[in-house]
This record gives sequence, structure tokens and C-alpha cells, in this order.
Amino acid sequence: MPSRIVKKRSLIPGQTSELVIDAPHIAAKAQPGNFIILRVCPEGERIPLTIADTDKQAGTITIVFLVLGKTTAHLNTLNEGDEILDLCGPLGKPTAIHKVSGPVICVGGGTGIAAMHHIAKGHHQAGNHVVAVIGARTKDLLLFEDELRRFCPEMLITTNDGSYGRQGMVTEVLVERLESDKTVAEVIAIGPVPMMAAVAKATKPFGVKTTVSLNSIMVDGIGMCGACRVSVGGKTKFTCVDGPEFDGQQVDFAELTQRLSSFKEQERISYEEFKKSHVCNCTR
Ligand code: FAD
Ligand code: FES
Ligand code: MG
Repeated sequence: MPSRIVKKRSLIPGQTSELVIDAPHIAAKAQPGNFIILRVCPEGERIPLTIADTDKQAGTITIVFLVLGKTTAHLNTLNEGDEILDLCGPLGKPTAIHKVSGPVICVGGGTGIAAMHHIAKGHHQAGNHVVAVIGARTKDLLLFEDELRRFCPEMLITTNDGSYGRQGMVTEVLVERLESDKTVAEVIAIGPVPMMAAVAKATKPFGVKTTVSLNSIMVDGIGMCGACRVSVGGKTKFTCVDGPEFDGQQVDFAELTQRLSSFKEQERISYEEFKKSHVCNCTR
């Protein structure tokens, strides 16, 4: 069903955008951790994006996306008032959120910070003390700081170049936080695969529950095609219906990384073609 974009905000010009979309059926049911799958044009591919927020009264959902290749570049050509061809969701298992005695640490990297927002909000609403650990390469690439401050009384920020917050990686401040507080109930990480793998490695010695949200390649999003296969604890799981969140200590990150690059050459050619005309070949 076509869904209208009611608001568009450029978070990092030309690179990361936020869309508020009129989707009352999805907004009514969406919970933290859920995602949608959308198509921009009739012959176009289906891509998954996390629901970063919902406004159930207004009937809207918010997505934040990084322009990475052809479909996200095409999506970024749409503006307020335009329609997205179809949206399917909410998909995936919601985040397991309940009142816990210790702090919940939400670790976000890059666009994953926005995806983390909905989860941090959910934990805050459940009465948990939420610590946000967020990082980016440089200050200008840091997303959703103000939005997260509403739900996270503690914010620990890192940039690789030291232009804002602490210089270094999110894992360094995460380890310090875990060393100084043995009551942490859970660590949740969303971001680039190397970051999530590093978080799982860093938390292992502390034995703290560590959840990661996997971004495997998806097609149908409903458990039929098998494209989103991941290995967790030696067993094959489908990220779309068994996840996207899994125990970080059990995930085979090397296999996930390898599968994510399976179509690199086709994706490069498709994006190069798109950049020539900014029109999808399928609409010609
Ligand atoms: P392409 O050049 O086609 O792909 C670039 C890279 O993106 C690929 O190499 C591959 O690693 C990955 N990718 C490509 N196609 C898919 C696909 N169908 N499914 C998943 N990954 C793919 N990105 C965001 O910016 N914001 C989000 O909130 C977000 N949430 C996600 C939630 C889930 C559950 C998953 C699985 C992925 C999420 N992603 C998110 C990643 C996003 O789907 C990809 O960046 C997007 O599909 C890239 O499409 P493209 O055509 O622009 O780039
Ligand atoms: Fe097809 Fe998960 S995307 S089975
Ligand atoms: Mg693509």
C-alpha cells in the first residue's frame, strides 16, 4: 500500500535522512526492535529499515537511513508529500523489554544510533535506567543525540577523531562503564557489523547479557526465502523471523560479514547506473 511521506529531515546532508511516514496500520502495532521492508518502485528491490520511532496518535512511523547504494539513494530522492510504493511491517520480533534492577546500556554506532532510539525509549518507559553509549567517526556524523537525551539520563559519547566526547571507540567507554558497575543488566548494540562484533567481544569477560541487532540481507522478511540466514550458537536462524536481535556471544560475525558482501559487484553496477540519471532503470 502506498504510504505518504509527511516530513523529511536531512540529518547529514546527502548521506543520512529521516522520514516520517503516514502508516497508521504499522504505527498501531510497531514495537521497539521491529523493522519494515519497503519498495521505492515497482521492479525495485525490497529493503529493510528499522522503525526508529512511532507516533501512534498521528499514525506515523519514523525511519532513518544511510544512503549506501542504489535503493537508499533512490529513496532519498523522495520528498515530503511523495509516496513510498509499499511498506510492509511491522516485521521481526520486538525487543524483549521488561523492568530490570540494573542499568541497560544501549550502544549505537553510525545510523544504528537512530535505530537504537526506539529501544532506548522502550526501556525508559519500562522504568529502566538507560545508558546510551554512542559513537561516530566525527562530531558532524553523530545522530540523534538530543532525541536520546530524553530517555537516557547517562550519555557516553565517543568520536574517532576526538572532535566531540571522548576520542576513541564506543567499546572503550563501554568497558570502563562495565568495570565500574557490576549491576548492569544488559548491553544492546546496533551499528556496523564490526562494531557489534567488538561489543560482544568486549562484554564477554563481564558475563553480561549482550544483544545485537543483525542487518543481514533480506528479501521477503517473512521467513520464506532464506536470504537472511545467520548462524547463531551453531544453528541456522532466519534474521527476519527469529531476530533481528540475537545473543551477541553466539553470532558467527565472520559468516555474516561474508554474506553481506555477496552481491557487492552487482550493487556497485546498479548504483553506478542509477547515478547517471537518478532514475531507476525499471521505470524507463
Ligand atoms: P546496496 O548497494 O544494494 O547495498 C549496500 C550494502 O547493504 C550491501 O553490500 C549489503 O551489505 C547491504 N544490503 C543490500 N541489500 C540489502 C537488503 N536487501 N537487506 C539488508 N541489507 C542489504 N539501514 C539504515 O540505513 N537504517 C536502518 O534503520 C536500517 N535498518 C535495518 C534493519 C534490518 C533488520 C536490516 C536487515 C537492515 C537494515 N539496514 C538499515 C540496512 C539497509 O537495509 C541497507 O543499507 C540497504 O538495504 C542498502 O540498500 P542499497 O540498495 O541502498 O545499497
Ligand atoms: Fe527471507 Fe528472512 S528475508 S527468510
Ligand atoms: Mg541494493
